[in-house]
Amino acid sequence: MVQLIGFKKIKTAIFISGRGSNLKSLIKFSKTKSSPISIDLIISNNHNAKGLKYANIFKIKKKIFRFKDKTLAEKKILLEIRKYKINLICLAGFMEILSKKFIKNFKGKILNIHPSLLPKYKGLNTHQKAINNKESYSGCTVHFVNHKLDSGKIILQNKVKITKKDTPKSLAKKILVQEHKIYPKAILKVFNL
Ligand code: GAR
Repeated sequence: MVQLIGFKKIKTAIFISGRGSNLKSLIKFSKTKSSPISIDLIISNNHNAKGLKYANIFKIKKKIFRFKDKTLAEKKILLEIRKYKINLICLAGFMEILSKKFIKNFKGKILNIHPSLLPKYKGLNTHQKAINNKESYSGCTVHFVNHKLDSGKIILQNKVKITKKDTPKSLAKKILVQEHKIYPKAILKVFNL
């Protein structure tokens, strides 16, 4: 593993809507010597997101914005992003689609993790869809974000075997283990580390 000595960490914001297990795994990664990022801000569209507890546990600033008025929410988020000098946004179970304008106005990189082998099974209920289609494999993908759902350039994927016994729940669980592995790896890849 590379040790980054004298390297200024890339200020990162993680966007979540729910449980936050990828957030937790990225926070742990950010604290390792080989991590190029520091996590300085957590953004959520959901006051009840369970993952917000990690903001308290790890003493990271959190901000919640309702997306009822998306234009306004995005404007406010951009202000926060500038205030904290954020250069990288990692979407981690963030269930809103960011507008073209937001993506254009944010000058850094935006990544997302999705629980399927993109371009297959964009959107919701990915595990059910993969099982229904009798796929032998599913997996997860980290990709750059553009204004189309789950469609930006792919950075990294990990495959998971689907067995006859798998249910959407068991498959989600297996894939999540891989998600926690590939998100940090994808970040290292994006910054050529
Ligand atoms: C993860 O499986 C992530 O891939 C998925 O939501 C879950 C969030 O879990 N994201 C999407 O479906 C986005 N299209 P987490 O809150 O425990 O990280």
